[in-house]
Amino acid sequence: MRRKMVAGNWKMHGNLLENKPLLNAIVTNLNGLQEVSFLVCVPYLYLPSVQDTLRNTNIAWGAQNVSQYEKGPYTGEISALMLNDFECGYVIVGHSERRTLFGEDNRTVSEKYQAAQRAGITPILCVGETLEQREAGTTEQVIEEQIASVIKLAGIKSLANAIIAYEPLWAIGTGRTALPEQAQDIHSFIREGLAKQDANIAKDLTILYGGSVKSNNASELFDMPDIDGGLIGGASLIAADFVAICRALHQ
Ligand code: 13P
Repeated sequence: MRRKMVAGNWKMHGNLLENKPLLNAIVTNLNGLQEVSFLVCVPYLYLPSVQDTLRNTNIAWGAQNVSQYEKGPYTGEISALMLNDFECGYVIVGHSERRTLFGEDNRTVSEKYQAAQRAGITPILCVGETLEQREAGTTEQVIEEQIASVIKLAGIKSLANAIIAYEPLWAIGTGRTALPEQAQDIHSFIREGLAKQDANIAKDLTILYGGSVKSNNASELFDMPDIDGGLIGGASLIAADFVAICRALHQ
């Protein structure tokens, strides 16, 4: 069944002192809400303490990146098996910041996706176009290629244990959210494209929208039939905002 989800992506934010009150406020305010999955993806170093704080709550935790390799001489990398040590249920792969700032191409992202799944961790595969690509009319082609690369390596059935997040680059951290209809168009393009390969996989796939989701625009985005929740950057660092977005989906 398609699961609704709000996931926070803290990116490179947070510290030991501030993480705890943020998480405690989120836990307290979302306590007992069951129909929606809630998740925070935190910097690697905070996983042990986040695990301690969130264990036995309805908030899951995950990482923001993972190595495509299982183990070996890869200085500075973190493997999926290491994430398992901290009971990460999820990991973001292919975030546009990884793609554009750290040179991750479709092949690398697909390998990371597969590495996560091999360890039993659900990858959240980020896809999305730049402003130039949108203006050039190549949005659908870009997204199709990003998803096709993963399917080529891991197979269409792998999407039964994955989440896709559509994050247009021009909407990330810019305050410029995609219009609900614009986002819906791409979400339904993704779902319909996958349905041609496997109708059940497409029907049950959770597709999140990300890019300047705030408490004042979350509801209209979440009302769209193919938007199953959000991947939240900046607003996930402010407890009241993150809780309000979570509640907007829960309604
Ligand atoms: P913002 O919500 O800050 O725009 O970030 C979105 C994002 O990149 C989540 O992964």
